[in-house]
Amino acid sequence: DEDRFVNDLLAKMTLEEKIGQTNLRGTSSMTKALPEDLKRAVRNGEIGAFLNISNLDYVDELQRIAVEESPNKIPLIFSRDVIHGFKTVFPIPLGIAASWDTEVAKKSSEIAAFEASAMGIRWTFAPMLDIARDSRWGRIAESPGEDPYLASLLGKAYVEGFQGDDLSSPTSIAACAKHYIAYGAAIGGRDYNTVNLSEPLLRNVYLPPFEAAIDAGAATVMSSFNEINGIPASGNAFLLKEVLRDELKFDGFVVSDWDSTEEMIAHGFARDKKHAAELSANAGMDMEMNSTCYADNLKQLIKEGKFSEAELNTFVKNILRIKYRLGLFEKPYRDKSHTGNYYAEAHMEEAKKAAIKSSVLLKNDGVLPLDKNTKVALIGPLAHAPHEQLGTWTFDGEKEHTITPVNAFKSAKVNVNFAAGFTHSRDRSDKGFKEAIQAAKASDVILFFGGEEAILSGEAHSRAYINLPGAQEALIHELAKLNKPIVLVIMAGRPISVSNIMYKTDAILMAWHPGTMGGEALYDMIYGVAEPQGRLPVSWPKTAGQLPYFYNHKNTGRPATAEEFIEMDSIPIHAWQSSLGNDSHYLDVGFTPQYPFGYGLGYSKFRYEDLSISKDTIDFNEKITIKARITNVGKRASTELVQLYIQDVVGSITRPVRELKRFEHVYLKPGESKEVRFSISSKDLEFVNHKMVKAAEAGRFNVWIGENAASGLKTAFYLKE
Ligand code: IFM
Repeated sequence: DEDRFVNDLLAKMTLEEKIGQTNLRGTSSMTKALPEDLKRAVRNGEIGAFLNISNLDYVDELQRIAVEESPNKIPLIFSRDVIHGFKTVFPIPLGIAASWDTEVAKKSSEIAAFEASAMGIRWTFAPMLDIARDSRWGRIAESPGEDPYLASLLGKAYVEGFQGDDLSSPTSIAACAKHYIAYGAAIGGRDYNTVNLSEPLLRNVYLPPFEAAIDAGAATVMSSFNEINGIPASGNAFLLKEVLRDELKFDGFVVSDWDSTEEMIAHGFARDKKHAAELSANAGMDMEMNSTCYADNLKQLIKEGKFSEAELNTFVKNILRIKYRLGLFEKPYRDKSHTGNYYAEAHMEEAKKAAIKSSVLLKNDGVLPLDKNTKVALIGPLAHAPHEQLGTWTFDGEKEHTITPVNAFKSAKVNVNFAAGFTHSRDRSDKGFKEAIQAAKASDVILFFGGEEAILSGEAHSRAYINLPGAQEALIHELAKLNKPIVLVIMAGRPISVSNIMYKTDAILMAWHPGTMGGEALYDMIYGVAEPQGRLPVSWPKTAGQLPYFYNHKNTGRPATAEEFIEMDSIPIHAWQSSLGNDSHYLDVGFTPQYPFGYGLGYSKFRYEDLSISKDTIDFNEKITIKARITNVGKRASTELVQLYIQDVVGSITRPVRELKRFEHVYLKPGESKEVRFSISSKDLEFVNHKMVKAAEAGRFNVWIGENAASGLKTAFYLKE
């Protein structure tokens, strides 16, 4: 049916209309009346989709013109960046990744789709599936973290959440797996920067999340801004045709990123807009976002034989297929009875749950959870910053609905002294210090809500220093002189270097940008109504100088040996390591991160024991079971994230020191224990080698079951020749 419908429609379309379908018009500057030239363009079939129209009357009117007055009455798709919630804002995606919980990813995107679709939005530019190994990169905030296995599970869950069981349901929206590909590998973490990657690295690390999203039925893919090994992703036939279509069998459509076709001129890859159109089109890009290289040039390129109408037909079919699957030909208009239930109690509850599941307790000397009667000072630029705690890419969530820590603590009627101390997170002045110190003096415990305002992460917001910005560290040093417990709550879009201040604090809780319900979630965690459940989806560096940092690195010929620390004022300081060691480390900070991938504390403790393995040797296609006993040895019920890592000890290309292969959340009451079992097959051991063959290789495999990427009980098995 779908094919017949699409082919019949295509047969009736003029060349101009076909080119029109490839045109995604950005409208960020359209604020006043609906421009006449825009209406005319839709009437003539020159536009296939719109981005960012937030005026409902315009949405309705443009769709009416498209389906009533354009030559073949082809509906438009309205798109928007609905990244981590629409009105009800969820934690930033890096936070959601910290939940290691696919249900959180799925539920948050399902609610986002439900709310956004009420505005006529049927296409979002999410999920972002760029593996990120560098916290300087501002877009790490939107990423699923540094691990391909976790990112793949999340990618699938997001697609299922946005698209639902049935894409044609009026409350489902088409997902867009972006940014294809390796955008996160920008040199130096500077946004849009050049990427150099070997093909095995591309295939083993950067591609799997896209593969998972496409397998889950992602309707669209967005090409990235960056070049890869000299060829911009938006003009890269190898990536767009060979890998995406031939290998991954993607049958939706590919859209360029904003202006990324035209930007191939600045890259030094295209001579002019016409050449850019030729390169993108011949590479297999179906739709162009915002720039008009296609609209202005495809007709002429076809006339000159530089691009074929047959290939254009393929683009149009890819686009029409998704419009068909969205049910737009039958129901082009938004359902006016669908209000979106913005900020509905159930949505807010899910947002709060997500914030709790995402928050990572990095340090706790025992101060948390607090007793309800503790007098607390709420200090810091994020204590009451309703817009900032929502994080990057929030166009629609209104700060009036945000619950900040100050809101939540006050409404819970705890004894609060509030003095932010800063006007915003970058504030360098010490003008507010006096008041903040006063509030601290009047309290038993200092809760310092530090971090970054929303705009310090996200697109084009990379940082070279990743410490708390402004004078936040200085105030923490002043507060420490009061000798009162300090709990540092960080709200930020990236791991923040805490090496200058961590020993001045008694607890550190990473809340990322937690979204609309952040304040309530933090209240619950700080007072022990709930326990922070997140685990790091990225390694947390000591300092930006260690970046890029990722746990699944290679060993090198001279792996680093144990780090040495010396005590200074009872603080462990990294000892300058002797260069005689001649191994791979930094003299001043060693080689380990501040906190490893997978790390996070709860309010209890767990013992790992009895690691065993069902066989010590397996054949290809055989399975093996690895198990361990986990016991809650603490005083309260708690959830542990049990992680399984593998190392392929010798490979035809060198292999990472560890790779995450499985994980499971285990909820245990005090004293309770559980045998956690994981099943692994030779399929899980496969990787792409230097001949681009994906296969497992015989030999020894080390296995760990543990609580993060730097710990665990260890065993090994062999894969037979
Ligand atoms: O979806 C985004 C993309 O992630 C970055 N450039 C702009 C697009 C549309 O807003």
